[in-house]
Amino acid sequence: MIIYFSGTGSAKYIATSLAHQTGEGVISLNERIKKHDTSSLTSAEPWVFVCPIYAWRIPSIVEQMIKDTPFLGSNKAYFVVSCGGGSGSACKYIEKLCKEKHFELLGFKQIIMPENMICMFKVPDKEEAEQIIKKADPLIEELGKQIMKEEKIKYRAKGTGFASKFINPLFNRYENVALGFKADINCTSCSSCVSICPMNNIVIIDHKPVWGKNCINCLACINSCPHQAIQYKNKTQKKNRYFLK
Ligand SMILES: Cc1cc2nc3c(=O)[nH]c(=O)nc-3n(C[C@H](O)[C@H](O)[C@H](O)COP(=O)(O)O)c2cc1C
Ligand code: SF4
Ligand code: SF4
Repeated sequence: MIIYFSGTGSAKYIATSLAHQTGEGVISLNERIKKHDTSSLTSAEPWVFVCPIYAWRIPSIVEQMIKDTPFLGSNKAYFVVSCGGGSGSACKYIEKLCKEKHFELLGFKQIIMPENMICMFKVPDKEEAEQIIKKADPLIEELGKQIMKEEKIKYRAKGTGFASKFINPLFNRYENVALGFKADINCTSCSSCVSICPMNNIVIIDHKPVWGKNCINCLACINSCPHQAIQYKNKTQKKNRYFLK
């Protein structure tokens, strides 16, 4: 069973490609988070968790959902992460999580996908993003073959260094991009940002989106707005958006 969380579509792309190849079912954690659904799940096949990397670890909301959900049937798991450059110490923390959940970790795989951190960096344009995804495709295919054979995947777990140990919790505690979001004059009140937010953190008031404080920085809203009408402070007016449908 493949379970994914995705902000801007890259992890979803990996999950759906794997599901297509392996014939396994796919579950969206985005939907379960939105509905506060931590009911038990059952699978005879190994669990395949797919998600992005946020500040060198898997998103804390994903970790929490995995902790809170009872997983029945198989006790084997793969973790697949999509990232812009590197997954830091994510794997060490995944090993800890697996111990807590009594999962046998069959493998950890990092797949480089397009950068989505529009508030800090430039994100690739359509052609650049296509090139990056083209390079990822054979890796995903190889991974699918290994998952089908329940093969163990060798990985090197980097230590829980300074970056992950201190910067990640600080990042989770103090970074809240939603406080810097505003819709500009191109907003049509379509509510697409309201629907996509996994945290139900956006409401429309007087025909304009208003952001609350319950943001996990997934950047789905700003990258997916069909009119590029969401801006982060004065940092995104001239930047591309990255969202993979
Ligand atoms: C809050 C945040 C933190 C991120 N931190 C990292 C990071 O530490 N390392 C990295 O390589 N990419 C990082 N990224 C980039 C994403 O991991 C990458 O773009 C990923 O493919 C996005 O997946 P998604 O489209 O499924 O949301 C970060 C993105 C966000 C939004
Ligand atoms: S998705 Fe964009 S256009 Fe639609 S309501 Fe949100 S900000 Fe406005
Ligand atoms: S408000 Fe925060 S959690 Fe919601 S879509 Fe935007 S970035 Fe993601």
